[in-house]
Amino acid sequence: MQIRCEGTVYTLYKEKTPIGTARLEEGTVWVEITPAWRRRGYGSYLLKELLRGNGGLDPKAETRFTAPLPADDAARALAAKFDFRPDGTRLVRRRVPDLSAVGLCHEFLAAHLAPGGFYIDATCGNGHDTEFLCRLAGPSGRVLALDIQPRAVAATNERLAAAGLEGVGHAIQADHARLGELAEAGSADCVLFNFGWLPGADHGVHSTAAGSVTALKAALALLKPRGILAAVLYSGQVIGDSERQAALAFFRSLPLTEYTVLVCEFANWADTAPLPCFILKR
Ligand SMILES: C[S@@+](CC[C@H](N)C(=O)[O-])C[C@H]1O[C@@H](n2cnc3c(N)ncnc32)[C@H](O)[C@@H]1O
Repeated sequence: MQIRCEGTVYTLYKEKTPIGTARLEEGTVWVEITPAWRRRGYGSYLLKELLRGNGGLDPKAETRFTAPLPADDAARALAAKFDFRPDGTRLVRRRVPDLSAVGLCHEFLAAHLAPGGFYIDATCGNGHDTEFLCRLAGPSGRVLALDIQPRAVAATNERLAAAGLEGVGHAIQADHARLGELAEAGSADCVLFNFGWLPGADHGVHSTAAGSVTALKAALALLKPRGILAAVLYSGQVIGDSERQAALAFFRSLPLTEYTVLVCEFANWADTAPLPCFILKR
């Protein structure tokens, strides 16, 4: 069995015989299986491939597909399995991107920071967060990014150059425990930490409780009044729970007169789900 795709037409072959097609025409999905081969899951197989090929299974993508109203129970079951819902004279499948811990941080920062600021990415990794901060800072802003691993620094600077943002942000190799030496106290509008390990690299290299708490303290000293520290905390088999617990204990010890602290738990996710936290300096 094989699916061949030509443009937006997906044809399912059994041996050399085509037994079904799924096609996408201006956002509308059509699935047709040869009658002798119906009710055996081939429609599902084809539709899944079509959705995958067009972003419909990507949890980070916003997508919308329509389909004709089902002609029978089998078509109704297939549509329901892939979240197509009746909407007037047709079926509609809408997906909005899943909210993630990092996505929540970005949304919060975008809502609270003005362009032209000085932002620090204290764990730049592959540069996604740095790029986000550079876009937020705009041409009149500045972003300092750092990472303990040279390959992360290189990846971030390459990403910024490819996006034409090298005039806004730059990454350097440094341990964020030394953050206090890298900028003036009271100069930053935001410091972002996305702790853990570098995706795609050795998971043995990751942030640690002692270094992270030192870095968080230094970051608070760098913030301007009204500045924001955002941190995504992780736990799990490889990194354990000590960094997360140490950071939370530090956050909870901060005086209410000087800081507002938010710990935004995804309450119905696993205990090891990433934990976005925000500290607003008064
Ligand atoms: C989850 S990744 C960050 C993802 C990144 N912000 C992005 O957008 O791709 C965590 C990063 O923290 C870095 N890191 C770990 N300990 C560090 C330390 N002490 N100082 C600076 N960076 C550190 C790791 O090398 C890794 O690249």
